[in-house]
Amino acid sequence: MQMPEEEATETEAKHVGLTKPVFFIGFMGAGKTSVSRRIARRSHIASIDADAYLERREGKKIKSIFDESGEEGFRTLETDVLNELSQKEPLLISCGGGVVLKPENRKILRERGFVVYLMVSADEASCRIKDASSRPLFKTIENARATNDARIPLYHEVADVAIETIGKNVSRIAQEITEILQKEGILCPLPK
Ligand code: S3P
Repeated sequence: MQMPEEEATETEAKHVGLTKPVFFIGFMGAGKTSVSRRIARRSHIASIDADAYLERREGKKIKSIFDESGEEGFRTLETDVLNELSQKEPLLISCGGGVVLKPENRKILRERGFVVYLMVSADEASCRIKDASSRPLFKTIENARATNDARIPLYHEVADVAIETIGKNVSRIAQEITEILQKEGILCPLPK
């Protein structure tokens, strides 16, 4: 991912925790994993990438799952993982770009956590993604534009907050979201 990483002014938050899961959604290349990791590191809380968790759980790469079981097979596993992760101790969870496709997933996102939509255009995403081979659904730029356009209403449907990422670095986006999570009472001091 190609977003510059220079540091912005940070709010130091040491003994904090989450009152509910925070889901990061948005198109491939939006920065979901980088941003959630950055927030986790600054605030000393746990983050998890749902696709990496799925790969570890299944012992297979996403690409192999698509090759062997198709998108349908992958989507079934994606729902299992979302269900599982959303019932653990609250975590920052970066979701795959297509998580909003199934109504069942949208219900889980809306009902079990706080949803942060990181907005990006397909053109900007294609500049950020260096190696598209691990993302079976990022084919041509025309295809990516059409896929993103079709998903935008679904991202908005479940989002509690939508954050523009274009022109911002990871640090600034992380800071913006940290402030929102604090204001919403989702990221808050833990009793010692
Ligand atoms: C997908 C996005 C990928 C991964 C899979 C399908 C999608 O995750 O879940 O390749 O449908 O947009 P990222 O958004 O983390 O790249």
